[in-house]
Amino acid sequence: MYQRYYAIYMNKILVTGACGQLGSELSTALAHLKGVDNVIISDIRQSNELPSGMQFIPLDVLDQEAIDKTIQKYHIGQVYHLAAMLSATGEQQPRNTWNLNMNGLINLLEVCQQRSVEKVFWPSSIAAFGSHTQLVDTPQFTIMDPETVYGISKLSGELWCEYFHARFGLDVRSLRYPGLISYKSPPGGGTTDYAVAIFHSALKGEAYQCFLGENTRLPMMYMSDAVKAAIELMSVPKKDISIHTSYNLTAFSITPGELTTAIQTHIPEFNTIYKPDFRDLIAKTWPQTIDDSIARQDWGWRHDYGLDRMVAEMIRNLALTPN
Ligand SMILES: NC(=O)c1ccc[n+]([C@@H]2O[C@H](COP(=O)([O-])OP(=O)(O)OC[C@H]3O[C@@H](n4cnc5c(N)ncnc54)[C@H](O)[C@@H]3O)[C@@H](O)[C@H]2O)c1
Repeated sequence: MYQRYYAIYMNKILVTGACGQLGSELSTALAHLKGVDNVIISDIRQSNELPSGMQFIPLDVLDQEAIDKTIQKYHIGQVYHLAAMLSATGEQQPRNTWNLNMNGLINLLEVCQQRSVEKVFWPSSIAAFGSHTQLVDTPQFTIMDPETVYGISKLSGELWCEYFHARFGLDVRSLRYPGLISYKSPPGGGTTDYAVAIFHSALKGEAYQCFLGENTRLPMMYMSDAVKAAIELMSVPKKDISIHTSYNLTAFSITPGELTTAIQTHIPEFNTIYKPDFRDLIAKTWPQTIDDSIARQDWGWRHDYGLDRMVAEMIRNLALTPN
């Protein structure tokens, strides 16, 4: 009985890293779904592009006491923990990346367990795989030997999530996101950022200088599918979740050459110049295609956007967005 009242009382959602590429869109979707008063958005920095009406609080996930106070003060029942440093930026600051991605996650898991938070969402990444992984149709269970500090932090984070579930019964849910493509917020320094930047060049009438090779294939997902996947996963009955590390997840797989061709169907004069750098070497250790059949079986995952639909949406929306 007390548990029931506790669940009603601790009913708000906290998003960390909410000003980022994923957080800004996921927070908006959560506010639409759950009501703007029920979503507390937080980040170490404040963005001007945050949706109006939402309550923003400054929160550094490396400050465990601040996380604890926030969870108690706002009666938080669910957390979407998105604060992280991404793959390409991470290689410039390996120690800071490990610190933020690992200690931020453990700080949060500990507080959530101690304060009986109902559910936690934490995104992993295809970066958790590595060059000895089966890179075509990568299975859920396979060799994982990441070569970037970001990937190492994601693989370790998956194991910490599973540990908190097994040891303390904390309901942590996770997805291994592929590269995310969005028009609203700029990407945060990942190896798949080219798939957003290319559209901005195309719409400015400029050639795009691509940091990946023409034939480097990576799995990708349009942002509205990424948001949908997180929200759906968090609404699945606990008994249906069979993966407590992180679910493989995908929508479509493309090379920069194929993306260029798809954009040219809308903007024929567009062109890409290839100047692969260190990010191409990272990309070559990541899966080309992903087997996400367990997500599809366990909780009915279905993506809405393939390559052509995503390209049409990106061009339409960016054309309507003022510079
Ligand atoms: N974008 C992608 O393609 C992609 C793919 C796979 C997984 N992911 C994962 O999704 C999550 C969100 O990624 P994103 O693309 O939105 O990243 P992003 O870099 O755009 O956003 C991360 C946010 O975290 C904030 N942050 C940094 N340090 C912080 C701290 N100490 N305390 C609180 N906030 C802090 C940043 O200010 C930023 O707003 C990350 O865990 C990332 O690894 C993203």
